[in-house]
Amino acid sequence: MKCEISRNVQSAAKLIQNGELVAFATETVYGLGANALDPEAVAQIFAVKQRPHFDPLIVHIANTDQLEELTSDFSSTAEKLASAFWPGPLTLVLPKKKIVPDLVTSGLNSVAIRIPAHPVARELLDLTRLPIAAPSANKFGRLSPTRAIDVAEQLGEEIKLILDGGTCTVGVESTVIQCMGECPVLLRPGGISLEEIQACAGDIRMAEIEDYAEVKSHVSPGMLPKHYAPGTRLIIVDHPDQLPESGLFGVLSLYPLEETEFRDCQFSAQQILSPTGDLKIAATNFFSALRNLDASGVDQIIAIRLPERGLGRTINNRLERAAAS
Ligand code: TXA
Ligand code: MG
Repeated sequence: MKCEISRNVQSAAKLIQNGELVAFATETVYGLGANALDPEAVAQIFAVKQRPHFDPLIVHIANTDQLEELTSDFSSTAEKLASAFWPGPLTLVLPKKKIVPDLVTSGLNSVAIRIPAHPVARELLDLTRLPIAAPSANKFGRLSPTRAIDVAEQLGEEIKLILDGGTCTVGVESTVIQCMGECPVLLRPGGISLEEIQACAGDIRMAEIEDYAEVKSHVSPGMLPKHYAPGTRLIIVDHPDQLPESGLFGVLSLYPLEETEFRDCQFSAQQILSPTGDLKIAATNFFSALRNLDASGVDQIIAIRLPERGLGRTINNRLERAAAS
C-alpha cells in the first residue's frame, strides 16, 4: 500500500492546496477531498472513485461566511436548517454561483454544501481556506468507510494520505435536503432524522422520480437503486418465514436475536447493531457490521428490517440500496 495513514493535518492541507487528493475523517463517513475550485483536482476524485460524472459532489466549507462565494440564494428554510444542524451531518442543495466548476455539480444549477463537525475535517478546512469537494472515500457503489483502514483497503494504492480521525461517530452519510424552491425536498435520508428535520423546517417533500426528470439527470444519484453494496448478496426480511430454504446465512439485526422472532433460526455469523436497540448507536455500527458480514464467508446476508423511524429510516434506505441488484 502506497498511502500513509496519519494525523498530520498540515501535510494534508498542503496536498489539497497543491491540487492533490486527501481522504479525511468526518463525523459521518470518511471523505475523499480535493480543492473544489480546481477542476483538475476534482477530476481525480471521479477517476479514483470510478464515479460516473453525472453524480455531483458535496462541497465542504469551514463556516457560513464562505456561502456567499459559492451560492446565490439562502432561503429562510435553509437558514433555519443551517443554524439548527451545522456544523453536522446535513447537506443543503442551494443555487450555485459560476465559480463552482461544472464538474463538481455535474452541470446542475445547484451545489450541495456541508459544514462538517469533526475536528479533523474542520482543521483541514481552516488550514486550506478552501472549499473541499468530497464524496465518501469508497469506490463508486461500494460500502462507505467509517475508519481510516477501510479507506486504505479500497483506495490505498491510489492516494497519498488518509487523515485519520478515528471511527466516525455518526456512521451514515449526511441528510441531503434541496432548498431551491418553496418547499424543501429530502433527497437522501442520513445522519439527521426526518423527524428532526420536520421539527425544525416544518413541511418537507420526499424526492420523487419527477425530481430526477426535472434536471434530465439524477437530482441525487445517492438515491440510485444499487448503491452502498457489499460483495455478498443481501436480502431484507421482516419475519423468519421469509428466510431462504438453505445456505450459509449471516444476519444483521438491530436487537440481540434472543429478543426477536429470529431467536430459533440458524445463522453462521451475526452482527447486532445495538444491544439496547438504540438507533443512533446502530447507525454508528452499520457499515462496519456489513463489512464484517461480507468478510465472514457467508453466501447471503440477511438483514432484519429496522423500525421506520429516526435513523432506522436511514439504515433501511441503505439496506434497500444494498439489496437492489
Ligand atoms: O456525509 C456525507 O455526506 C459524506 C461526507 C464525506 O461528507 N459525503 C457523501 O458524499 O456521502 P457522496 O458523494 O457519497 O454523496 C453525495 C450525495 C449524492 O447522493 C449526490 O447525488 C448528492 O449528494 N448531491 C450532490 N450535489 C448535488 C446537487 N447539486 N443536487 C442534488 N444532489 C446532489
Ligand atoms: Mg457515497
